[in-house]
Amino acid sequence: MPDRYAVVGNPVAHSKSPRIHAAFAQATGQDMSYEHLLAPLDAFVPTVEAFRGAGGRGLNVTVPFKLEAFALAAVHSSRAQLAGAVNTLMVEPDGRWYGDNTDGAGLVRDLTENLGLELRDRRILVLGAGGAARGILGPLLDGLPHSLAIANRTHAKAVALAAAFAPLGPIEAIALSALPRRHYDLVINSTSVGLASEVHDWPGSVFAPGSFAYDLVYSDQPTQFVHWALAQGAERTADGLGMLIEQAAESFHLWRGVRPHTAPVFALLRPR
Ligand code: ATR
Repeated sequence: MPDRYAVVGNPVAHSKSPRIHAAFAQATGQDMSYEHLLAPLDAFVPTVEAFRGAGGRGLNVTVPFKLEAFALAAVHSSRAQLAGAVNTLMVEPDGRWYGDNTDGAGLVRDLTENLGLELRDRRILVLGAGGAARGILGPLLDGLPHSLAIANRTHAKAVALAAAFAPLGPIEAIALSALPRRHYDLVINSTSVGLASEVHDWPGSVFAPGSFAYDLVYSDQPTQFVHWALAQGAERTADGLGMLIEQAAESFHLWRGVRPHTAPVFALLRPR
Protein backbone atom coordinates (compact mmCIF):
# COMPACT_ATOMS: atom_id res chain seq x y z
CA MET A 1 0.00 0.00 0.00
CA PRO A 2 1.41 3.46 -0.89
CA ASP A 3 1.79 5.96 1.97
CA ARG A 4 -1.25 8.23 2.16
CA TYR A 5 -1.20 12.02 2.17
CA ALA A 6 -3.89 14.62 1.51
CA VAL A 7 -4.77 18.31 1.50
CA VAL A 8 -7.52 19.09 4.00
CA GLY A 9 -9.69 22.19 3.66
CA ASN A 10 -13.18 23.53 3.06
CA PRO A 11 -13.62 24.09 0.19
CA VAL A 12 -10.82 21.92 -1.16
CA ALA A 13 -11.89 20.47 -4.52
CA HIS A 14 -10.18 23.33 -6.40
CA SER A 15 -6.78 22.69 -4.77
CA LYS A 16 -3.85 22.04 -7.10
CA SER A 17 -1.89 20.29 -4.33
CA PRO A 18 -2.78 16.71 -5.43
CA ARG A 19 -1.44 17.41 -8.93
CA ILE A 20 1.71 18.99 -7.52
CA HIS A 21 2.47 16.13 -5.13
CA ALA A 22 1.66 13.47 -7.72
CA ALA A 23 4.23 15.09 -10.01
CA PHE A 24 6.80 15.27 -7.17
CA ALA A 25 6.17 11.61 -6.25
CA GLN A 26 6.57 10.45 -9.82
CA ALA A 27 9.75 12.46 -10.37
CA THR A 28 11.37 11.22 -7.15
CA GLY A 29 10.08 7.64 -7.27
CA GLN A 30 8.18 7.86 -3.97
CA ASP A 31 5.46 5.26 -3.34
CA MET A 32 2.67 7.50 -2.06
CA SER A 33 -0.84 8.69 -2.76
CA TYR A 34 -2.19 12.23 -2.27
CA GLU A 35 -5.88 13.10 -2.24
CA HIS A 36 -8.36 15.90 -1.50
CA LEU A 37 -9.87 15.66 2.00
CA LEU A 38 -12.97 17.79 2.61
CA ALA A 39 -13.55 18.45 6.32
CA PRO A 40 -16.89 19.80 7.54
CA LEU A 41 -16.36 23.28 9.01
CA ASP A 42 -17.13 21.98 12.51
CA ALA A 43 -15.27 18.68 12.23
CA PHE A 44 -11.63 19.33 11.36
CA VAL A 45 -10.17 17.21 14.17
CA PRO A 46 -12.43 14.14 13.71
CA THR A 47 -11.75 14.25 9.96
CA VAL A 48 -7.96 14.31 10.25
CA GLU A 49 -7.95 11.76 13.09
CA ALA A 50 -10.02 9.40 10.93
CA PHE A 51 -7.50 9.95 8.13
CA ARG A 52 -4.64 9.06 10.48
CA GLY A 53 -6.57 6.02 11.73
CA ALA A 54 -6.88 4.82 8.15
CA GLY A 55 -3.11 4.98 7.69
CA GLY A 56 -2.64 8.65 6.70
CA ARG A 57 0.96 9.84 7.17
CA GLY A 58 0.69 13.56 6.57
CA LEU A 59 -1.51 16.47 5.52
CA ASN A 60 -1.36 19.87 3.95
CA VAL A 61 -3.83 22.19 5.64
CA THR A 62 -5.60 25.01 3.86
CA VAL A 63 -8.38 27.53 4.52
CA PRO A 64 -9.93 27.74 7.09
CA PHE A 65 -8.13 25.19 9.27
CA LYS A 66 -4.55 26.43 9.76
CA LEU A 67 -5.21 27.63 13.32
CA GLU A 68 -7.01 24.41 14.27
CA ALA A 69 -4.09 22.45 12.84
CA PHE A 70 -1.76 24.50 15.04
CA ALA A 71 -3.88 23.64 18.08
CA LEU A 72 -3.93 19.95 17.11
CA ALA A 73 -0.16 19.56 16.72
CA ALA A 74 1.63 18.27 19.82
CA VAL A 75 5.02 19.43 18.52
CA HIS A 76 5.72 22.50 16.35
CA SER A 77 8.61 23.64 14.19
CA SER A 78 10.00 27.03 15.16
CA ARG A 79 8.60 28.58 11.99
CA ALA A 80 5.13 27.23 12.82
CA GLN A 81 5.47 28.70 16.31
CA LEU A 82 6.33 32.08 14.78
CA ALA A 83 3.49 31.95 12.26
CA GLY A 84 0.99 30.75 14.89
CA ALA A 85 -0.44 28.53 12.16
CA VAL A 86 0.23 25.11 10.63
CA ASN A 87 -0.03 24.25 6.94
CA THR A 88 1.77 20.89 7.14
CA LEU A 89 1.03 18.01 9.51
CA MET A 90 3.07 14.83 9.83
CA VAL A 91 2.45 11.77 11.97
CA GLU A 92 5.43 11.21 14.27
CA PRO A 93 6.69 7.67 14.98
CA ASP A 94 4.95 7.85 18.39
CA GLY A 95 1.65 8.74 16.70
CA ARG A 96 1.58 12.42 17.67
CA TRP A 97 1.06 15.19 15.13
CA TYR A 98 4.06 17.33 14.20
CA GLY A 99 3.06 20.77 12.84
CA ASP A 100 5.14 22.87 10.44
CA ASN A 101 4.49 25.98 8.37
CA THR A 102 6.12 26.01 4.93
CA ASP A 103 4.25 29.01 3.48
CA GLY A 104 6.84 31.70 4.25
CA ALA A 105 9.76 29.53 3.17
CA GLY A 106 7.87 28.77 -0.04
CA LEU A 107 7.36 32.46 -0.75
CA VAL A 108 11.00 33.34 -0.09
CA ARG A 109 12.21 30.46 -2.24
CA ASP A 110 9.96 31.59 -5.10
CA LEU A 111 11.15 35.19 -4.79
CA THR A 112 14.85 34.42 -4.52
CA GLU A 113 15.40 31.19 -6.48
CA ASN A 114 12.74 31.37 -9.20
CA LEU A 115 12.26 35.10 -9.67
CA GLY A 116 15.85 36.11 -8.96
CA LEU A 117 14.97 38.75 -6.39
CA GLU A 118 17.47 39.76 -3.72
CA LEU A 119 15.80 40.47 -0.34
CA ARG A 120 18.87 41.84 1.40
CA ASP A 121 18.69 45.64 1.86
CA ARG A 122 15.36 45.87 0.03
CA ARG A 123 12.43 47.95 1.26
CA ILE A 124 9.48 45.59 1.55
CA LEU A 125 5.80 46.46 2.03
CA VAL A 126 3.28 43.81 3.10
CA LEU A 127 -0.35 44.80 2.52
CA GLY A 128 -2.65 43.05 5.02
CA ALA A 129 -2.16 41.82 8.57
CA GLY A 130 -4.14 38.58 8.73
CA GLY A 131 -3.05 34.96 8.93
CA ALA A 132 -1.34 35.00 5.54
CA ALA A 133 0.81 37.98 6.54
CA ARG A 134 1.78 36.39 9.85
CA GLY A 135 3.02 33.30 8.01
CA ILE A 136 5.50 35.18 5.81
CA LEU A 137 6.99 37.86 8.08
CA GLY A 138 9.60 35.67 9.82
CA PRO A 139 11.07 34.19 6.61
CA LEU A 140 11.07 37.65 4.94
CA LEU A 141 13.00 39.14 7.87
CA ASP A 142 15.47 36.23 7.64
CA GLY A 143 16.37 37.65 4.21
CA LEU A 144 17.81 40.76 5.95
CA PRO A 145 15.77 43.46 4.19
CA HIS A 146 16.50 47.14 4.77
CA SER A 147 13.00 47.46 6.22
CA LEU A 148 9.68 45.65 6.30
CA ALA A 149 6.50 47.72 6.58
CA ILE A 150 2.99 46.38 7.20
CA ALA A 151 -0.07 48.36 6.16
CA ASN A 152 -3.59 47.20 6.85
CA ARG A 153 -7.15 48.52 6.65
CA THR A 154 -7.41 47.87 10.40
CA HIS A 155 -4.22 49.62 11.51
CA ALA A 156 -4.26 48.13 15.03
CA LYS A 157 -3.69 44.66 13.57
CA ALA A 158 -0.61 45.88 11.69
CA VAL A 159 0.70 47.46 14.89
CA ALA A 160 0.21 44.21 16.82
CA LEU A 161 1.99 42.14 14.16
CA ALA A 162 4.91 44.55 13.93
CA ALA A 163 5.30 44.44 17.71
CA ALA A 164 5.25 40.64 17.72
CA PHE A 165 7.99 40.40 15.07
CA ALA A 166 10.11 43.38 16.15
CA PRO A 167 12.72 41.17 17.89
CA LEU A 168 13.47 39.55 14.53
CA GLY A 169 14.32 42.59 12.44
CA PRO A 170 13.48 46.09 11.17
CA ILE A 171 9.69 45.86 10.98
CA GLU A 172 7.15 48.67 11.37
CA ALA A 173 3.42 49.24 10.97
CA ILE A 174 2.54 52.08 8.67
CA ALA A 175 -0.83 53.82 8.47
CA LEU A 176 -2.52 53.79 5.05
CA SER A 177 -2.59 57.59 5.25
CA ALA A 178 1.23 57.67 5.44
CA LEU A 179 1.76 55.36 2.45
CA PRO A 180 1.67 58.06 -0.27
CA ARG A 181 5.01 59.38 0.98
CA ARG A 182 6.72 55.98 0.92
CA HIS A 183 8.28 53.89 -1.86
CA TYR A 184 9.11 50.19 -1.83
CA ASP A 185 11.15 47.72 -3.88
CA LEU A 186 8.87 44.76 -3.17
CA VAL A 187 5.13 45.05 -2.46
CA ILE A 188 3.35 41.87 -1.35
CA ASN A 189 -0.43 41.55 -1.27
CA SER A 190 -1.46 39.27 1.59
CA THR A 191 -5.04 40.52 1.83
CA SER A 192 -8.11 38.74 0.60
CA VAL A 193 -8.95 41.70 -1.65
CA GLY A 194 -10.43 40.49 -4.91
CA LEU A 195 -12.13 43.42 -6.57
CA ALA A 196 -10.27 46.19 -8.38
CA SER A 197 -12.43 48.83 -6.73
CA GLU A 198 -11.23 47.70 -3.29
CA VAL A 199 -7.59 48.09 -4.24
CA HIS A 200 -7.98 51.83 -4.78
CA ASP A 201 -7.45 52.59 -1.10
CA TRP A 202 -3.76 51.94 -1.68
CA PRO A 203 -1.67 54.67 -3.33
CA GLY A 204 0.06 53.54 -6.52
CA SER A 205 3.05 55.69 -5.59
CA VAL A 206 4.30 52.90 -3.28
CA PHE A 207 6.07 51.36 -6.27
CA ALA A 208 9.68 52.55 -6.44
CA PRO A 209 11.39 52.46 -9.85
CA GLY A 210 12.16 48.82 -10.74
CA SER A 211 9.83 47.49 -8.04
CA PHE A 212 8.29 44.05 -7.85
CA ALA A 213 4.64 43.31 -6.95
CA TYR A 214 3.78 39.85 -5.62
CA ASP A 215 0.26 38.57 -4.98
CA LEU A 216 0.05 35.60 -2.59
CA VAL A 217 -3.12 34.54 -4.40
CA TYR A 218 -2.60 32.34 -7.44
CA SER A 219 -4.61 32.63 -10.60
CA ASP A 220 -4.14 31.64 -14.23
CA GLN A 221 -5.38 35.10 -15.21
CA PRO A 222 -3.56 38.20 -13.89
CA THR A 223 -5.09 39.02 -10.50
CA GLN A 224 -6.68 42.39 -9.80
CA PHE A 225 -3.72 43.29 -7.63
CA VAL A 226 -1.31 42.43 -10.46
CA HIS A 227 -3.36 44.51 -12.94
CA TRP A 228 -3.37 47.42 -10.54
CA ALA A 229 0.35 47.15 -9.73
CA LEU A 230 1.32 47.15 -13.41
CA ALA A 231 -0.90 50.18 -14.07
CA GLN A 232 0.82 51.99 -11.17
CA GLY A 233 4.32 51.36 -12.50
CA ALA A 234 5.49 48.12 -10.88
CA GLU A 235 8.19 46.75 -13.17
CA ARG A 236 7.63 43.04 -12.53
CA THR A 237 4.79 41.04 -11.03
CA ALA A 238 3.97 37.49 -10.01
CA ASP A 239 1.03 35.66 -8.52
CA GLY A 240 1.33 32.96 -5.86
CA LEU A 241 1.56 29.83 -8.02
CA GLY A 242 5.31 29.64 -7.48
CA MET A 243 4.81 29.99 -3.72
CA LEU A 244 2.19 27.24 -3.77
CA ILE A 245 4.58 24.87 -5.52
CA GLU A 246 7.53 25.79 -3.31
CA GLN A 247 5.58 25.38 -0.06
CA ALA A 248 4.47 21.98 -1.36
CA ALA A 249 8.10 21.05 -2.05
CA GLU A 250 9.01 22.02 1.52
CA SER A 251 6.21 19.80 2.86
CA PHE A 252 7.27 16.95 0.58
CA HIS A 253 10.84 17.28 1.84
CA LEU A 254 9.64 17.10 5.45
CA TRP A 255 7.55 13.99 4.80
CA ARG A 256 9.81 12.06 2.45
CA GLY A 257 13.33 13.39 3.06
CA VAL A 258 13.71 14.21 -0.65
CA ARG A 259 13.60 17.68 -2.22
CA PRO A 260 11.81 17.58 -5.58
CA HIS A 261 12.65 19.89 -8.49
CA THR A 262 9.92 22.50 -8.81
CA ALA A 263 10.52 24.02 -12.26
CA PRO A 264 8.96 21.08 -14.17
CA VAL A 265 5.82 21.33 -12.01
CA PHE A 266 5.54 25.07 -12.61
CA ALA A 267 5.77 24.42 -16.35
CA LEU A 268 3.13 21.69 -16.03
CA LEU A 269 0.65 23.93 -14.21
CA ARG A 270 1.31 27.06 -16.21
CA PRO A 271 2.31 26.07 -19.72
CA ARG A 272 3.57 28.97 -21.82
P1 ATR B 1 -5.85 35.40 5.74
O1 ATR B 1 -5.69 34.26 6.68
O2 ATR B 1 -6.06 34.98 4.31
O3 ATR B 1 -4.78 36.42 5.87
P2 ATR B 1 -7.59 37.03 7.30
O4 ATR B 1 -6.80 36.68 8.51
O5 ATR B 1 -9.07 37.10 7.36
O6 ATR B 1 -7.25 36.06 6.12
O7 ATR B 1 -7.02 38.44 6.78
C1 ATR B 1 -7.53 39.06 5.64
C2 ATR B 1 -6.73 40.34 5.38
O8 ATR B 1 -7.27 40.98 4.22
C3 ATR B 1 -6.81 41.35 6.50
O9 ATR B 1 -5.59 42.05 6.55
C4 ATR B 1 -7.96 42.24 6.05
O10 ATR B 1 -7.95 43.53 6.59
P3 ATR B 1 -8.61 43.81 8.04
O11 ATR B 1 -7.63 43.32 9.04
O12 ATR B 1 -8.80 45.28 8.08
O13 ATR B 1 -9.91 43.04 8.06
C5 ATR B 1 -7.66 42.31 4.58
N1 ATR B 1 -8.83 42.71 3.79
C6 ATR B 1 -9.93 41.98 3.54
N2 ATR B 1 -10.78 42.67 2.75
C7 ATR B 1 -10.20 43.88 2.50
C8 ATR B 1 -10.56 45.04 1.75
N3 ATR B 1 -11.71 45.12 1.09
N4 ATR B 1 -9.70 46.08 1.72
C9 ATR B 1 -8.52 46.03 2.40
N5 ATR B 1 -8.11 44.96 3.13
C10 ATR B 1 -8.95 43.90 3.17
